[in-house]
Amino acid sequence: MNKKIFIKTFGCQMNEYDSNRIFDTVQKIGFDRTENLNEATCYLLNTCHIRDKAKEKVYHEIGRVKKNFRKKIKPLVIVTGCVAQAENQEMLKREPYIDLVIGPQAYHKINHKIEEYLDKQKKIEETEFDAVSKFNYFKDIKNSSNKVSSFLTIQEGCDKFCYFCVVPFTRGPEYSRPFNEIINEAKILADNGAKEIIFLGQNVNAYKNENYSLADLILEVEKIPKIERIRYTTSHPRDMSDDLIDVYGVTKKLMPLVHLPIQSGSDKILKSMNRKHTVKDYLVVYEKLKKINESVEFSSDFIVAYPGEEDEDFNETIEIIKKIKFINSYSFIFSPRPGTRASNYELIDKKVSSKRLDIIQKHLFQNQINKNKSFENKIMNVLVENLTEDKINFFGRSEYMTPVILNGSEENIGKVVPVKITGSNKNTLFGKIENNSNQKVA
Ligand code: SAM
Ligand code: SF4
Ligand code: F3S
Repeated sequence: MNKKIFIKTFGCQMNEYDSNRIFDTVQKIGFDRTENLNEATCYLLNTCHIRDKAKEKVYHEIGRVKKNFRKKIKPLVIVTGCVAQAENQEMLKREPYIDLVIGPQAYHKINHKIEEYLDKQKKIEETEFDAVSKFNYFKDIKNSSNKVSSFLTIQEGCDKFCYFCVVPFTRGPEYSRPFNEIINEAKILADNGAKEIIFLGQNVNAYKNENYSLADLILEVEKIPKIERIRYTTSHPRDMSDDLIDVYGVTKKLMPLVHLPIQSGSDKILKSMNRKHTVKDYLVVYEKLKKINESVEFSSDFIVAYPGEEDEDFNETIEIIKKIKFINSYSFIFSPRPGTRASNYELIDKKVSSKRLDIIQKHLFQNQINKNKSFENKIMNVLVENLTEDKINFFGRSEYMTPVILNGSEENIGKVVPVKITGSNKNTLFGKIENNSNQKVA
């Protein structure tokens, strides 16, 4: 029987990157990828543990698969990702339908573990942190991503231990991949058709390998002719070093959107989050970046109703939003995560939390709407990524990462084209390709 793997991915871009790399390796033991669950002989769920009922979501999902295969041959069921790391053995005990549990720093062992399981029919859990061996293994497995915009993980793990966050526990200590290995992978992606590379890391700007920094990586990847755009995510305010800021003054390819989570506008709350930066530190970075390149815009993450957040703390967050005018942001109600320091803190009333989320989102969305509106009737450079589902229009992104729906043709895919913006809403710009224009706004 043909081996077919169905991969479902929850969570951040790093999980998306990992799912693709897992497929790259299981291909070696004969798996094809399928998007049709019914024909899967292996079901892999790549999980996220960041908020809410992450664990329950996983069991719910496995329950659905179980139901789907009730009258058919059971697929091999593998759980990977951050819930796998956090729950490990527990998952095998609680849900016998799961066969293998593999943590994010053990993906290099996946083929071996699958074969071992098929041989002995004995459940397996593998959650050792071994980022060095993992990346060493994967450097010899070709990255098959052929997307116009491709992810490239350069750094993994986190040593910062914000008191609300599970990532240091699920991804392990910070590890930066060797410089040359990353450049080689970027060249492969470029040869596969990538026009944009998005460097990934939980603390991507903490990247340090020998004497190389993220700034060095950006400048080196800029030299690859086929690559037209470079982005990175997610960065920490404390690691916005001057050499990285300086790149914004000289770069031709680094996009002018900086995703820099602040979480709160109150120093009191930042301190009790163990964020290791103040509002002032953040503003210093903001001013420096604006000074060096005034086209730079910011996006951010916010946690509202963190334990101890009083009205005045919340109002300070609203003030910073008004000041910086983030053009795109994510906001969440604090969710206590097992094993983290803040999970022991007293929660804020649910109604107050929801009201604060509503208020913050109203401000953030208004910024987004205003910014998108300001692009109307202007020409923007858009990297066209694919045909939309309606098979009529095309999807691309502006330099600020904003989705753009445009007219076009297949030959525009993979190209940066000038687009006249004719309309907008909160999340999307709409436009037409402009043929003879030298005008450029963003
Ligand atoms: N490393 C990034 C940083 O330092 O900002 C964040 C990575 S985390 C995967 C993405 C976002 O999830 C965070 O910026 C934070 O806003 C949110 N988040 C993390 N833990 C959370 C929690 N316990 N409750 C609510 N939101 C949370
Ligand atoms: Fe989580 Fe903080 Fe690390 Fe970001 S810096 S991954 S929020 S612990
Ligand atoms: Fe989720 Fe793990 Fe990413 S918890 S956000 S999948 S690092």
